[in-house]
Amino acid sequence: MSGPSEGAIVRRYRPADRAALYAVCLATGADGQDASKAFRDPHLLGHRYVGPYLDLEPRLAFTLEDAHGPCGYVLGTADSERFYRAFLDEWLPPLRDRLPEPGPDPARWSEDDRLLDELRSPTLTLPADLGAHPAHLHVDLLPRAQGLGHGRRMVQTLLTALAERACVGVHLGVSPRNQRAIGFYRRLGFEAVPAANPDAGTLLMARAIP
Ligand SMILES: CC(C)(COP(=O)(O)OP(=O)(O)OC[C@H]1O[C@@H](n2cnc3c(N)ncnc32)[C@H](O)[C@@H]1OP(=O)(O)O)[C@@H](O)C(=O)NCCC(=O)NCCS
Repeated sequence: MSGPSEGAIVRRYRPADRAALYAVCLATGADGQDASKAFRDPHLLGHRYVGPYLDLEPRLAFTLEDAHGPCGYVLGTADSERFYRAFLDEWLPPLRDRLPEPGPDPARWSEDDRLLDELRSPTLTLPADLGAHPAHLHVDLLPRAQGLGHGRRMVQTLLTALAERACVGVHLGVSPRNQRAIGFYRRLGFEAVPAANPDAGTLLMARAIP
């Protein structure tokens, strides 16, 4: 299939990409589908899944860019434990001060409320054997860039950068409803692994880094 993203390049993230990468996160944030209708604040998903990686791990952030601009990213860290400590202790507190509190009644929460709560006490799902897979990653591409081999290239770019850091393995979390992504990860050598703190909303997958 030909498409507008066929000549896309993978390059290091630049700060000017930030808004576009937040937009990619929103456009793919509902189990791989567009989440923009679900949120009043279009930045909340990006605050959880994009911003911390751009700020805390900019050397492990890569942008996919085609003729129309940034159309995908792969983000990650070599050391999930260290990353989550910095996320919780340094990155989140100033953001929390700027965000409203979720509504008082969880039974009436909107998607915004749910994410505001998540940004107050994030659910961090880690593999039972974190030592074997200490890194983690997120990869998302706009629809126009999907199905063209870019996802494989993006993940391979991150695996190469992790290998340069002598990292032995990487994990990721995926919604059990996102069967397309699960098939993609399996094709790239990821397998389901048990979680230290199982969460029905997240399937953990992992692979070694050769
Ligand atoms: C999931 C995603 C990253 C995959 O990237 P992609 O560019 O579409 O996938 P690629 O074209 O690089 O596919 C790579 C390989 O996986 C295979 N593959 C892709 N989806 C597959 C599936 N569902 N089942 C089996 N194989 C699959 C491809 O055939 C290809 O095989 P090959 O390289 O051996 O020929 C991308 O589609 C995407 O961003 N989707 C929306 C957001 C999302 O769901 N992100 C993941 C959140 S956890």
